[in-house]
Amino acid sequence: MAIKYYFANWKMYQSLSAVQQFLKDYNKDESWQNVVHNRHVGIAASYEYLYFLQQKLKKSWISVGAQDCSQFLQGAYTGQVSVQSLAEIQANFCIVGHSEVRQFLGQSDELIALKFKLLIAANMSPIICIGETLTQKEDGMTLQVLFDQLEPVLRFLQSYQGSVKIFIAYEPVYAIGTGQIPSKKDLQEVFYFLQNVVQQVPVAKNVMFLYGGSVSSKTVSQLQDISEISGFLIGKASIDFQELKKIVELA
Ligand code: PGA
Repeated sequence: MAIKYYFANWKMYQSLSAVQQFLKDYNKDESWQNVVHNRHVGIAASYEYLYFLQQKLKKSWISVGAQDCSQFLQGAYTGQVSVQSLAEIQANFCIVGHSEVRQFLGQSDELIALKFKLLIAANMSPIICIGETLTQKEDGMTLQVLFDQLEPVLRFLQSYQGSVKIFIAYEPVYAIGTGQIPSKKDLQEVFYFLQNVVQQVPVAKNVMFLYGGSVSSKTVSQLQDISEISGFLIGKASIDFQELKKIVELA
């Protein structure tokens, strides 16, 4: 499958002036339309910029999404952001289970699956992130860890028949922000495994696989030719418009 999806994960990198600069660079670029033709680019921004970005980009080829959401529908949950409110501002997708929220906020596989289900119910594409640590990899645990992280979601998908596009992003923890990409052999093994696991659910054809972790214009050539990968989740390299464009052009 050719690379088609490019999701920028802006994490907590961007200030308002940096977001405005990104938009300025985007607006003055003349070749972007040709570069993204038949491809899909999405930006997962911090909540405070979502509505603004959505307004600015609604006629563009770039969709806007969130980096996380609440597992609750609505109510007295201070500090949380509901899927319903994301849907209202026409967010297109939402990341769940990023290793940083698993690590810093202690979110469990079951809790992440709750968010996943709410997103599906709201017709919003979830991007569920999974990935092993270096120690788990060295202990030969990679496939088991990935399966365990996905298991509650797979259980739900056994009885799901809808048409929402679902993304599974494999992001090895040791590759995030380090400049290191797993070997092609390791990636092939993981994606082959994931594809086989997902074959068991009725909506397998709506499930796309992304790779994330140190994707940049320098590393993207190492990520070509892995047939199961249909896109990337890009962190640090995505905050600069020209660098993001270069990745889309190269892959
Ligand atoms: P990175 O982050 O591209 O900066 O390594 C990717 C991610 O965490 O989604």
